[in-house]
Amino acid sequence: MPEIEMTVNGKPAKGNVEGRTLLVDFLRETLGLTGTHVGCDTAQCGACAIHMDGEPVKSCNIFAMDAAGTDITTIEGMANPDGSLGVVQAAFREHHGLQCGFCTPGMVMVAASLLKENPEPTEAEIREHLEGNICRCTGYHNIVKAVQAAAADMSAKPIAAE
Ligand code: FES
Ligand code: FES
Repeated sequence: MPEIEMTVNGKPAKGNVEGRTLLVDFLRETLGLTGTHVGCDTAQCGACAIHMDGEPVKSCNIFAMDAAGTDITTIEGMANPDGSLGVVQAAFREHHGLQCGFCTPGMVMVAASLLKENPEPTEAEIREHLEGNICRCTGYHNIVKAVQAAAADMSAKPIAAE
């Protein structure tokens, strides 16, 4: 099996993959980064969202080999350097933007990418941006509130890790 290398959460990472190995499986099983979840495996639910070269992507929809040489950020990379929750993560907790938490890593990654592009999104813009992420618990209302709160907090603090 060929070996691939990439940068993950600011550190070099490598491992052997088959041609059909999905990026999400490489992150979870080879690198042990199990914060990225697998919900559907068919690019519909968004639970597996990460950042690849700064853009949000669904990691169940990318072969690990195609991510060789890229710069990946996962939910583990969103914490502050001291291990405390990053701004977006903390806003989700504070504003009850999660219940079971299964969708949360993907929601946080996609929300963070929105706030990087658009630091003051409207409610409609937040809902539109999160359209590819499914939550079966919250009804989305508190997720939107959490993203709005993170936007307000980030006017004072940058997003962790990026
Ligand atoms: Fe990737 Fe659902 S597991 S979109
Ligand atoms: Fe349970 Fe979103 S909090 S799926």
